[in-house]
Amino acid sequence: MQVQLLDFTTLDKELLTLVLEWRNHSDIRCWMLNGDEISLENHLRFVESLKNRADKRYFLVQQGDAYIGVIDFTDITQKSAEIGIYANPQMRGMGHALMNTVIKYGFSTLGVKTLIASVFADNKRAKHLYEKFDFTERSRTLYKGREMIIMEQKA
Ligand SMILES: CC(C)(COP(=O)(O)OP(=O)(O)OC[C@H]1O[C@@H](n2cnc3c(N)ncnc32)[C@H](O)[C@@H]1OP(=O)(O)O)[C@@H](O)C(=O)NCCC(=O)NCCS
Repeated sequence: MQVQLLDFTTLDKELLTLVLEWRNHSDIRCWMLNGDEISLENHLRFVESLKNRADKRYFLVQQGDAYIGVIDFTDITQKSAEIGIYANPQMRGMGHALMNTVIKYGFSTLGVKTLIASVFADNKRAKHLYEKFDFTERSRTLYKGREMIIMEQKA
């Protein structure tokens, strides 16, 4: 089924609140670099700031009538971008559709040569998903004492 990408900067407050609920969900924020709960005020300020940023893009992904998750691109340069994803916590099995969207947008629309994913080593579900989409381990590092794997895929 076809997906639509809804840029965060175009979303109304209701949809921004939905996205924030997902982002603050315990199953999601435990895997984010910033695991803190985010206030609505800070969230709205962040989304506003995206209007002036060429190096960051955040999208709510819609498939049919359903909002299936969020994908984002940060540190965008001509050569590469860092990717992020989280699925609607009420849905399961959305990882593939989200990753297909990431790959298509990253390599075709942004036109970068390399996509980078940073994943905590114990995030088995995300790591498995990235491997399935041909991301390979480039290096490991420690982030706030937690082991993190830097993965990448080249066009
Ligand atoms: C990562 C995420 C987007 C994946 O979405 P999802 O809907 O759960 O994805 P799927 O159900 O399609 O599962 C992806 C794969 O992981 C597998 N998987 C599930 N649990 C697993 C586990 N504990 N260990 C290994 N693989 C696992 C699934 O079987 C599936 O593989 P398959 O296609 O070979 O069957 C979602 O889990 C999520 O939002 N997680 C929280 C945020 C997050 O971790 N984001 C990534 C940060 S780097």
